[in-house]
Amino acid sequence: MKRFPTHGGNVHEAARASGRPISRLVDFSASINPLGPSPRAVRAVREALPQLIHYPDPDCAALRRVLAARWRLNSGRILIGNGSSELIHLLPRALGIRHALLIGPTFSEYERAVALAGGRVSYLHAGRSEDYRPPVDRVLSVLRRSRQTIDTIFLCNPNSPTGRGVDATAVRTLVQAAASRRLRVVVDETFVEYCPRRSVLRDVPRWANLLVLRSLTKFYAMPGLRLGYLAGAAPVIRRARELQPPWSVNTPAQVFAVAALSDRDHADRSLVFMERERAALVAGLTALPGVTVFPAEANFLLVELPTPLSAGACAAALARQGLLIRDCSSVPGLNRRTIRVAVRRRAQNRRLVAALHRLLGGYR
Ligand SMILES: Cc1ncc(COP(=O)(O)O)c(C=O)c1O
Repeated sequence: MKRFPTHGGNVHEAARASGRPISRLVDFSASINPLGPSPRAVRAVREALPQLIHYPDPDCAALRRVLAARWRLNSGRILIGNGSSELIHLLPRALGIRHALLIGPTFSEYERAVALAGGRVSYLHAGRSEDYRPPVDRVLSVLRRSRQTIDTIFLCNPNSPTGRGVDATAVRTLVQAAASRRLRVVVDETFVEYCPRRSVLRDVPRWANLLVLRSLTKFYAMPGLRLGYLAGAAPVIRRARELQPPWSVNTPAQVFAVAALSDRDHADRSLVFMERERAALVAGLTALPGVTVFPAEANFLLVELPTPLSAGACAAALARQGLLIRDCSSVPGLNRRTIRVAVRRRAQNRRLVAALHRLLGGYR
């Protein structure tokens, strides 16, 4: 089996390797809302603990009702998953994907999920000179080729790990062009809370070939609880649900999600915080000699280090100081000097910039 890039956020492995407790690590490798989860949602989970003696609701009915009302969708168009990763892994079998086009450089689980289900993938990568913006125009050209065999397109919007997104209008053009060729489009909107105008979730009822993935991991800061959802045509949702193991979404996750989605104040505070701190971190990193910071729309930054500092050497040196970053050198379509860093709180971001400054000094 092919080796895929490892994910960020493995603080457990980093703690074992470094001998430091997790509490002494600063994790820039997973892009989680630095303000943490909604306090209201955490309280709701605490209050729900007596329910642990029961199985969770296998239909996630309360949460699906909340999501259906929020997005004005029939709840039969929504499937809740144990993180969006579970749904990404259900999709290739639910859709019978044989050949997927992945708009890269992007999240590695799309390829892994398609490969595990016996399909294959082709990549169409955004270039560095395009600031890694997903090249929708070039995808449209590929679709016009008469002998292509693609049945499904994956687009992450805004994209991870590059941080760039495309307009909802461009996504709709892509979905329409795909529909006329009987192709499906899976749009992963895991980070879209940071640029909500890019979302096409409300378009789901208009297009039978559109599937939209969302995750509560990042913006709602619950990677340890696991919850994501998929919106799409009812028959696909039904098929994916048939393939899903029973009770895969636990009670605390369902309760958390219902409460977190209604906490508008925390969401607003998180957005204001991110706008300000992302700009401050961009300024700090851009001032470092030879460092390129790519334009970003979510809560992380794609950064290219100057020669000869490799992403791997940089990640290892920072890890020795308890700072974890994402080494992107093994992501197809990115070069060996590319890293991704999450935007965290001001003091932590300053610590990262200072550590990088010292490291770069040693390479000059
Ligand atoms: C683009 C993207 N999609 C989906 C996921 C999976 O998120 P989760 O399974 O935690 O919902 C991730 C996690 O890193 C991601 O970066």
